[in-house]
Amino acid sequence: MGKAQRIGTYVEDLDRHMEGGIPAGYTVLVCGPSGSMKSTFAFNILYNASRDSGMRGLYISMEQSKENLLDHMASLGMDASKAKNMNVVDMGRLRRELGKANSEDWFDTLYSQLKKYKKEFDCDILALDSLDALYALTVLKNPRNQLFHFFEDLRELGTTNLLVSEMPRNDVLFGKHGVEEFLSDGIIHLRFREIEIGRTPSVRRYIGIVKMRGTSHDLDYYPLLVEKGRFEIVVE
Ligand SMILES: Nc1ncnc2c1ncn2[C@@H]1O[C@H](COP(=O)(O)OP(=O)(O)OP(=O)(O)O)[C@@H](O)[C@H]1O
Ligand SMILES: [Mg+2]
Repeated sequence: MGKAQRIGTYVEDLDRHMEGGIPAGYTVLVCGPSGSMKSTFAFNILYNASRDSGMRGLYISMEQSKENLLDHMASLGMDASKAKNMNVVDMGRLRRELGKANSEDWFDTLYSQLKKYKKEFDCDILALDSLDALYALTVLKNPRNQLFHFFEDLRELGTTNLLVSEMPRNDVLFGKHGVEEFLSDGIIHLRFREIEIGRTPSVRRYIGIVKMRGTSHDLDYYPLLVEKGRFEIVVE
């Protein structure tokens, strides 16, 4: 068997530090506190994969409306109309389509819907933004068990999945229920760190690959720069 195809992160220099990117078919957590660019990072991958290699992406935005999301991305130089193979479904639509599934089999209903989306959009990459917003739609009676099955289902779907996960600042859990990090194939952590410039306190963005199965990568956190719609890390 040949080596798995890799999906680039489109963060300049980062892919070189992880054997070319995320192995296709993986389910990866994109974690960080508010404002750490989780949504932008995930969108950036779908946007560029669509433009570069015609890969098809579906971005499911559960927190921001489609309009708000696309405005934000446009302000960062990503004009969604230039990425023909990328689609966005927002909360309003997903809620409508999920209907009134009871919480017992809620994840099953969600999975059926994701399968329908996969068929409709024929997508290779799926971004789910965010897991936490998803949790807010249902009551998880047995999170460990339900999430185990949900992650299995995501694998079954055959797409590469980017799951956005919110981390309160200074928290150490990469997912709300503490099991997401074990269930995922990879963890990309976006974080802030306080620095001082002269006597002025400030924060800087950092990115680290905490886990990527089957991949040689280091555990350094690299300063992350976002300029003119381009992500870049600073390697010392
Ligand atoms: N045009 C721009 N150029 C550079 N940075 C920007 C621009 N517009 C917004 N930002 C930065 O992007 C941040 C938001 O990015 P993004 O929405 O991807 O973060 P997030 O981690 O998904 O946040 P949340 O948890 O609130 O969803 C803003 O807090 C701001 O610092
Ligand atoms: Mg976001």
